[in-house]
Amino acid sequence: MNREDFEILRNGIIYFDNGATTLKPKCVRDAIIKYYDEYSANAHRGDYKISSIVDSLYEETREKVKNLIGAKESSEIVFTSGTTNSMNMIVFGFFKNYLKKDDEVLITLSEHAANIIPWFILQKEIGIKVKYIDLDDNYEVSIKNFEKAISDKTRVVSLAHITNVVGDERPIREISKIAHNNNILVVVDAAQSIAHKKIDVQNDDIDFLAFSGHKMYGPTGIGVLYGKFDLLDKMTPINYGGGMNAMFTKDGYVELREIPTRLEGGTPNIEGVLGLNAAISFIEDIGLDVINTYEKKLRNYLINELSKLDFIELYNKNVNSNIVVFNIKGVFAQDTAIYLDKYNICVRAGNHCAKILDSIFKVGNTVRISLSFYNSKEEVDLLINVLKNSENIWKEII
Ligand code: ALA
Repeated sequence: MNREDFEILRNGIIYFDNGATTLKPKCVRDAIIKYYDEYSANAHRGDYKISSIVDSLYEETREKVKNLIGAKESSEIVFTSGTTNSMNMIVFGFFKNYLKKDDEVLITLSEHAANIIPWFILQKEIGIKVKYIDLDDNYEVSIKNFEKAISDKTRVVSLAHITNVVGDERPIREISKIAHNNNILVVVDAAQSIAHKKIDVQNDDIDFLAFSGHKMYGPTGIGVLYGKFDLLDKMTPINYGGGMNAMFTKDGYVELREIPTRLEGGTPNIEGVLGLNAAISFIEDIGLDVINTYEKKLRNYLINELSKLDFIELYNKNVNSNIVVFNIKGVFAQDTAIYLDKYNICVRAGNHCAKILDSIFKVGNTVRISLSFYNSKEEVDLLINVLKNSENIWKEII
């Protein structure tokens, strides 16, 4: 689907590493080139024509993000450098002030490093406790286990919408309902879901949301932090400097601007924002529902075909996203990836930044295929053929 929009696909690669980053369509490249060629001024700092073009496009993007995730106001949208930056702002800009010693944060063993390490650091700094919700036999979060993990000290639950290795989707709306009934705030890492599945921060009653542009067909170095207005308004900036202050005097008096400007100190990644603008239009033109339906169908086909190969171990047969993880039995994941690369098949191998998952997954390294709508049944067939033909080679080596 829409393969002609991706120049890189003319090179004959089979790109199955969309969880790491997606390919970029021509419209994103064109938006960035247009910025460089036609109006490459700073944002919110000039009083001339090309700077006002940039100002409007920059704020138009904020509005588009607001609509994409169903936020109430565009002032709830902050541009960051990516999910990791957004998560760190959430933890150190908000929760560092909000939480007290012994307060509990609920995460799981299958979170990405960006949703674990900042909490560990806060645990060290102010004495909060990081607790894990037990995962069920499919490595998923059940409502029963979430409820079991809640104590009278739980103040926040921080979960990926779709995890980056297991690929399971969390029931965010149900989790939020229970969390809010217990005075618990809800943080959602939408890095792996934003380009594949609709998320609505108002319907799902999410307090903070983080995602990256580069995993949704946009540029690298641009991300989004969403926060409900009253919470975001309490966030302490990490960057102090130009753009975010209303005034300051020589005796140290500083007055800051309103959100979101207050949280976007310094010249922002303007080409990133403008590229994201094009990426959102691109996704919306195809339709997230169409994307989701297509990717699910392709995933089921891939699972079905992989399941026929008895030398393959599949780890997440039952989950419902675009992510499939497997190993060739007895073969190191990186060796499989290098072998597939000989056939121009790009997959990710390793622990995928989810380094503590192996304590329940029972295997450290896996091969991950993360699909996108531009992948095809023919590409899956080619992968299956390459894997089938490799069986004897592995038999000789192992
Ligand atoms: N977090 C990205 C991944 O899962 C890089 O591959």
